[in-house]
Amino acid sequence: MSETPRDHILRLRAEIQRYEELYRKKHAPEISDFEFDKLVDKLADLEREFPMFAGPDLGIGDDKAEGFQQRDHKSPMLSLDNTYDEADFMAFGERLAKAVGASALQFVVEPKIDGVAVSLTYENGKFVRAVTRGNGTRGDDVTHNVALIKSIPRKLADAPDLLEVRGEIYMELEEFQRLNREREAEGEALYANPRNLAAGTVKLLDAAVAQSRNLSIVCYGLGACEPAMFAKLSDFKQRLKDWGFPIRDDIGLQQGIKAAWAAIQQLDQIRRNLPFPTDGAVVKLNSLAEQQKAGTTSKFPHWAVAFKFPPDQAETILRAISMQVGRTGAITPVAELDPVLLAGSTVARATLHNADEIARKDIREGDTVLIQKAGEIIPQVLGVVHAKRPADSKPFNFEARLKELGLDATRDGEEAAYKLRVPSREMKIRRLIHFACKQCLDIDGLGVAVAEQLIDLELVDAPVQTLSITAEQWRMLDGFKDKSVDNMLSGVAQAKQRELWRAIHALGIPNVGMQTAKDLARHFKSMNALESAKLGDLLISKVGKKGHETYTSVISGVGIEVSESVLSFFSDPHHREWVQAMRNAGLNLIEVASATTVEGVAGKTFVLTGTLPTLGRDEARDLIEKAGGKVSGSVSKNTHYVVAGEEAGSKLTKAQELGVTILDEAGLRKLLGT
Ligand code: IVH
Repeated sequence: MSETPRDHILRLRAEIQRYEELYRKKHAPEISDFEFDKLVDKLADLEREFPMFAGPDLGIGDDKAEGFQQRDHKSPMLSLDNTYDEADFMAFGERLAKAVGASALQFVVEPKIDGVAVSLTYENGKFVRAVTRGNGTRGDDVTHNVALIKSIPRKLADAPDLLEVRGEIYMELEEFQRLNREREAEGEALYANPRNLAAGTVKLLDAAVAQSRNLSIVCYGLGACEPAMFAKLSDFKQRLKDWGFPIRDDIGLQQGIKAAWAAIQQLDQIRRNLPFPTDGAVVKLNSLAEQQKAGTTSKFPHWAVAFKFPPDQAETILRAISMQVGRTGAITPVAELDPVLLAGSTVARATLHNADEIARKDIREGDTVLIQKAGEIIPQVLGVVHAKRPADSKPFNFEARLKELGLDATRDGEEAAYKLRVPSREMKIRRLIHFACKQCLDIDGLGVAVAEQLIDLELVDAPVQTLSITAEQWRMLDGFKDKSVDNMLSGVAQAKQRELWRAIHALGIPNVGMQTAKDLARHFKSMNALESAKLGDLLISKVGKKGHETYTSVISGVGIEVSESVLSFFSDPHHREWVQAMRNAGLNLIEVASATTVEGVAGKTFVLTGTLPTLGRDEARDLIEKAGGKVSGSVSKNTHYVVAGEEAGSKLTKAQELGVTILDEAGLRKLLGT
């Protein structure tokens, strides 16, 4: 029996509400914005057709979260109505002309940045707080995290008594990729897209974690302004720019709706080169008096609209589901696809996240699936094209497949991922490669081929055993004669003399990347001290007024997540055995003071971008750090030098805008005195 219109409406409303919650509160959407908007449109159509079943307004949702103080907005924070086609957009123009009673309207056209909306309040020119949209009239006070964004001016000259500046907090694509590379190196599940990570970061209660992720902001809107001092949005934007706020002026003012439409097309061309994710263009009436005339609904202004670019999607056949085992034993299902062109690159694999995701979407091998790039980076399987499902297809049985593959895995109650009970061959190889890699012990000559043999010959089980392989044992490897044996022995001998942070990083503690390993080494100064650290050595706990427990980091960059990881790692007797084996093998486990700081470098902040002619990124970082400098991921007013190589991107542009000194490799070497 088919669904009645009433049931259809009820089902749609429930679905929309659920997706809305996932997006705003959990920062973990299950469907794309495009699909979401389609559901909302479908509901609107049905409710128009069957008004007797229409329900109350669904509103724009609410992002309120536990642990934040709430604040009222002086002027409400509205959302935007969406359009997806030209006719719809032109209709917006016509409605507006009628409402305003003028024909030649002037428009501001901007990229629609995919991030989280925020309101910045200035009292007498002083930045006092940052608040999320919340329900539009009242939001969460997120000043502590937003204040980490250096491009937000703290003081404004000649400012009104009260000013609310509206903007979008986002994460640059480069920063998102940097964080995901770190996650990958640590064997952790990847973040899905920059928008969710930005939203999650703004709402972090753990300042140390928030600090380790660089957020950016673009300001585009005017909230309350007392006394009033602007007549046009473009005047306000110019003033924002003069005050030092980042704004977007990629596209100039447009006369008339036709010109605005052309500008949207222009934006579609340039948006792929922007350093942030964009999913559309925003078109706004320039005159504030005309805006007032046009008015608003409870959710949207009538004077602005978002034109959403359809996401890059493609259909292809999912040939098989394979299982990828991470270094820590976490299993990620991967869709093996018939290769297909999507947003300029060929996609042959896509993540399926976890078993629940496959079950929820009922994804089966042999299905035709719709794929999309989330935040235009990682391909995702959106869903199945049911009409094209083969008649003989069977639901995918995750556990049965693990068994067939000989993967003995379980899942912890709360964890989404299955984890191997005992390390597999793959995992052992990956662990060993991590142990020996350039960012860890840097064992010369130990690459994939050698690692595979060491594991297959059972010379190594836990990576630390590499440190005590004898000449005779090395000789068992394929083609290993005196010379290669000598090379390996000397490679291992050299590795034993390296810095403490390398040994810490080599252990493969979840959530401890290279930078964190360095922070831990500098603080604890020995493996002994780190190994016997207690919670209180890492975090200071305070109980607040409302009984909420909050933690402050002892070491900058080491928050709750990392602290728990470290403590739980060393509580495992196996891991303590590894450390003991390191000791027995004579590996350096203490921090040796470096006396090589270079004046002019010490205490300065550097940002690396592009490809340098001879220095690798890690090498350049090492040289700078050894000389007492710091390397940061993003350019701000506090950056002293940007070292730019071939194909340097947005960081170079930003450095030029901010007037930061730019060096090439030769310039860096000169500064370092090498
Ligand atoms: S203007 C009255 N301009 O998109 C609403 N919004 O989907 C004024 N957004 O709520 C908003 N880029 O959070 C405006 N250039 C831009 C934007 C932008 C992103 C966000 C904003 C808004 C949401 C609507």
